[in-house]
Amino acid sequence: MSWKEYYAAHTTTAEQAVARIHSGDRVVVQHACGEPSHLLDAMVANAAAYENVEVVHMVAMGKAAYAQPGMEAHFRHNALFVGGTTRAAVAEGRGDFTPCFFSEVPGFFADALPVDVALITVTPPDENGKCSLGVSVDYTMAAVKCAKTVIAQVNRNMPFTCGQSLVGVEEIDCFVLYDAPVIPLAPPKIGPVEEAIGENVASLVRDGDTLQLGIGAIPDAVLKFLTGKKDLGIHSEMFSDGVVDLARAGAITNGKKSLHPGKYVVTFLMGTQKLYDFVDHNPEVYLAPVDYVNDPFVIAQNDNMVSINSCVQVDLMGQVASETIGPLQISGTGGQVDFIRGAARSKGGRAIIAMPSTVKGKTSKIVPRLDAGAAVTTCRCDVDYVVTEYGIAHLKGHTLRERARALIEIAHPDFRDGLREEFERRFHKTY
Ligand code: COA
Repeated sequence: MSWKEYYAAHTTTAEQAVARIHSGDRVVVQHACGEPSHLLDAMVANAAAYENVEVVHMVAMGKAAYAQPGMEAHFRHNALFVGGTTRAAVAEGRGDFTPCFFSEVPGFFADALPVDVALITVTPPDENGKCSLGVSVDYTMAAVKCAKTVIAQVNRNMPFTCGQSLVGVEEIDCFVLYDAPVIPLAPPKIGPVEEAIGENVASLVRDGDTLQLGIGAIPDAVLKFLTGKKDLGIHSEMFSDGVVDLARAGAITNGKKSLHPGKYVVTFLMGTQKLYDFVDHNPEVYLAPVDYVNDPFVIAQNDNMVSINSCVQVDLMGQVASETIGPLQISGTGGQVDFIRGAARSKGGRAIIAMPSTVKGKTSKIVPRLDAGAAVTTCRCDVDYVVTEYGIAHLKGHTLRERARALIEIAHPDFRDGLREEFERRFHKTY
């Protein structure tokens, strides 16, 4: 059978495709903006047919209707990262959270979390019968390889991305042809605090560095201050519209990269149509699975690797809580530790945690102790630079006393006195 005959014979409706999901199955959903919303809608519409289907997902960018009240008998959400649409489900006990490094997730599907069904989005096949996984290759490629059944929404709006992002039609069991806009991520609002943080972080970036950027206002603010740099490169878990602007400004060439020179290396993409147009059939943008892109030993092969991530709280020892507020899980480890460790091993590397000094001006994010029940995402031995709108604290290689002093210097002035009192109690020294 030719691939064209196979493709025609395996094309079906969403209703028929989701009938291949059975009670007790583990269903893995393609990540973030690659989410196959039409298949998820059909799965949820068929909820009465299922009991105890485990839905494994990371950043759920769609409605996450399977995790809403009333769905408990049919679905149980297993979050590998908690996002806005799944926070309540995990907090209210309708879902679970599995702590993990993003780089490990593909390995789970071959071992700890065997996959029954993968729900994915692909482009239509090219002339060789290969579909692209588009904006999300990350753990999705492993889900395709490991699942007993692979169901794909074929969406002509999904950008055809290059690199290790191609799947042969024979690897997919059902095709559901359904065009929909690729889920957008609106650019974040950048205020004066984010701008000041961006400027401080940008002062740590040199011409020729390779960057990893987390998600949100702070990475975007950093990019605004990098327009004067030369020959920057990208090796990042994800990137967004800000990288397109910086590339157009001529600051990113990827020309000095020691690994994959000339290429943007990334495992998933989130942005607006501007980003999706930029990556479509762009051979310079190299999408690859997350167990490659986020492997600290791969990251470390980039000389002058700079990782830029954010967090919820930092204590005076430099322990970083990035995913919980007290015991409440609000996000996940994601790739933060993967990149911090990779940058630490990179020749000339730097790892930056950047955050506003306060939570909306009300409480300090630099604290004597993390809130009770908080998870430490980045441990004090891994932390390198911490940056706020008030400056830069370099912690790696410094004593607890030096770290505390450096962190107090970049805390919001309203909270410095209280932190200094803690310093004097802890170190039996006047500040
Ligand atoms: N105490 C109480 N609430 C806090 C807080 C603190 N110390 N720090 C943050 N919050 C609240 C914010 O007020 C906000 O609440 P809201 O949603 O009601 O407005 C919420 O937590 C999210 O914080 P915000 O600063 O708006 O989030 P962000 O989009 O900048 O993301 C992280 C910050 C830390 C959540 C995010 O960077 C993350 O998940 N990091 C870990 C994973 C990672 O680094 N991955 C690698 C790159 S993708």
